[in-house]
Amino acid sequence: MANNAVIIGTGSYLPSRVVTNQDLEAEIDTTDEWIRTRTGIRQRYIASDNEPNSYLAVKASEHALNMAGVRPSELDLIIVGTLTPDMPMPSVACLVQKELGALKAGAFDLSATCSGFLYGLAVADKFVRDNRKMKVLVIGSEVLSRRVNWEDRTTCVLFGDGAGAAVVTGTRDRRGILSTHLHADGRLWEFLTIKALGTACPITPEILDKGWQYIEMSGRDVFKNAVRALEAVTWEAIKTNGWTSDDVDLLICHQANMRILDYLRERLGLPEEKVFINIHKYGNTSAASIPIALDEANRSGRLKPGMNLLMVSFGGGFTWGAVAMEW
Ligand code: UT7
Repeated sequence: MANNAVIIGTGSYLPSRVVTNQDLEAEIDTTDEWIRTRTGIRQRYIASDNEPNSYLAVKASEHALNMAGVRPSELDLIIVGTLTPDMPMPSVACLVQKELGALKAGAFDLSATCSGFLYGLAVADKFVRDNRKMKVLVIGSEVLSRRVNWEDRTTCVLFGDGAGAAVVTGTRDRRGILSTHLHADGRLWEFLTIKALGTACPITPEILDKGWQYIEMSGRDVFKNAVRALEAVTWEAIKTNGWTSDDVDLLICHQANMRILDYLRERLGLPEEKVFINIHKYGNTSAASIPIALDEANRSGRLKPGMNLLMVSFGGGFTWGAVAMEW
């Protein structure tokens, strides 16, 4: 009999400092009205200097493990989707492993930008289908505030920090993860970048002057590609499972822009209550956005056993993907 992967615990963590649109109005040439109407964002959480990525990831993981009733020592694998690790080496996953005391677990980071959590779930799904006893901790965690140029109004108003996590294990029942869909188009990489801090360009005063250590985005190009790819992958997941859009009980999309969420909802003909929205509270938290939303939907009772859940993401690379589940 085939094994299926189920999520048995979710958790999330936000740093304590809130930065509102009004706070930003006082610092840069922007308005609450522009940010709200163009993006839906009202505030975002920003990590303090002593809260690196791994700190947020550990907190979210503890909540997920508690809900799952799983001890860190039982974990077999830790996967962290992130584009803002504490440092290039070691991985955030190894720091989380150490902090949790999950010493039996393998640990690695996965680089798929905003799609990191769904890519991580797809990897966990494969391991658990092989061995249903495995327990995998999948995390999406970001401290984007350290990679944002706070003088660039076209990006700094958009992003926030946070982390979310899920504990995945196996079952013989036909439920849990039904299908995973991963896509990428590296030809379009230049539309969304952090060009420096890797090995492609040296860290020189000239490079730092150009601001290549920060997120740069061609917003309209990302928007156009995001709506196209998200709609396509959503239909792909629906058709793969023999569903119609009516069969989707809850859609959790990467929270990048309210207008993208509205577009998807209209194209799918879904009522408002079937599309999860929390972008107003957190902004775009990249790989953390879907697991934070998943945890909120789970803890608030919005997700109920037997529901068809569809999660879809899009981000730099470009990467995009979907995970369809029976909750
Ligand atoms: O997480 C990965 C996926 N990311 C996304 O999906 C993001 C996709 N893109 C977007 O969400 C939108 O493109 C943005 C929210 C980033 C920008 O919205 P837009 O409607 O595409 O605005 P725009 O970039 O075309 O800018 C319109 C105007 C410009 O002024 P002019 O040239 O028309 O005079 C900008 O300079 O708005 C100006 N502007 C701002 N004004 C006030 C840009 N940022 C701001 C700002 N405050 N913060």
